[in-house]
Amino acid sequence: MERKPKILVIGSLVMDQIVITKEIPQEGRRVFAEDFVKTPGGKGANQAVQAARLGADVTLIGKVGRDINGEELLQACQEEGVDTSKMLYDEDGASGCAVIILEKVPGERRRNRIFVISGSNMKIRPEEVEFLKEDISRYDMVMLQNEIPLEVNETAVRFACEKGVPVMLKPAPVIRRLPREFIRHLTYIAPNEQELRAMTGVIINRKRGIFNYEEAKVASAIMRSKGYANILTTLGESGALLDATDKTIYKKAAPNTEVVDPTAGSDSFLGAFCTRICMGDSRGQALTFANYAAAITISRMGVLSSLPTTEEVVKLLEANGRSYF
Ligand code: RIB
Repeated sequence: MERKPKILVIGSLVMDQIVITKEIPQEGRRVFAEDFVKTPGGKGANQAVQAARLGADVTLIGKVGRDINGEELLQACQEEGVDTSKMLYDEDGASGCAVIILEKVPGERRRNRIFVISGSNMKIRPEEVEFLKEDISRYDMVMLQNEIPLEVNETAVRFACEKGVPVMLKPAPVIRRLPREFIRHLTYIAPNEQELRAMTGVIINRKRGIFNYEEAKVASAIMRSKGYANILTTLGESGALLDATDKTIYKKAAPNTEVVDPTAGSDSFLGAFCTRICMGDSRGQALTFANYAAAITISRMGVLSSLPTTEEVVKLLEANGRSYF
């Protein structure tokens, strides 16, 4: 039997409010949107739930308000078996929420635009995670994103480094100047193309759906010169490229994926990648598994509810002629 890895996610819990529309109104105009969905999300919660659904033993640390959104966010994570016993509370502020505009133009690729109202997520203080100094050694991997204060991430990364625990950072939203010491202690950084562009200035072009490998390598080289070790770029329908310190590995996306809602696609990818790496997969295997997990997520409407189980990912791999185990 595979080992059940222990993953610590420190990050955001956000109540997502998705407006599904065929049209974005011009200034001073209104349009009828097609639908509205309210659903728990936030990069921290999404990554935690994805890892839990794939068999990891997950602890999520974040901060929620004492409000209905906070209650629902915690409940959604707990129902998936995520340990929220170390959760922090903002006694008088609101939980984080987001407005997501999902553009559903007939015949076009679905796009989303996200406004995050941080609320309690940005109120975590570094001293509130001091207890991790020793405790962090219990975990096989730490997953971080940029939807909580940088000082909290810095504290966690320092502790993880002291205990030799690998760290994955999703640089969303992008913080342009990160301290060199922090960068040096990250095991993986996982930008998407837009984030990589904001961090390096490099645009990765595509010709007939195939991304320009040389441009991606140039971007990775710039990242390396800034001190990053393993650069994992998620390329949407083109798959994922891991430019590691010892070698470069590229894995294609799952074929024929119909994108219904791209929200949480990269969270799903990273939750899956980290879980599979901790379970002992090779990096190539973990990339393929993560590509297929993300393909399922974006083929469904919703956020937490769209994240797949191991059985679903394996089924899709097998349907595409890939035996995984
Ligand atoms: O990555 C998707 C997530 O980003 C959404 O759930 C939203 O809350 C934002 O944090």
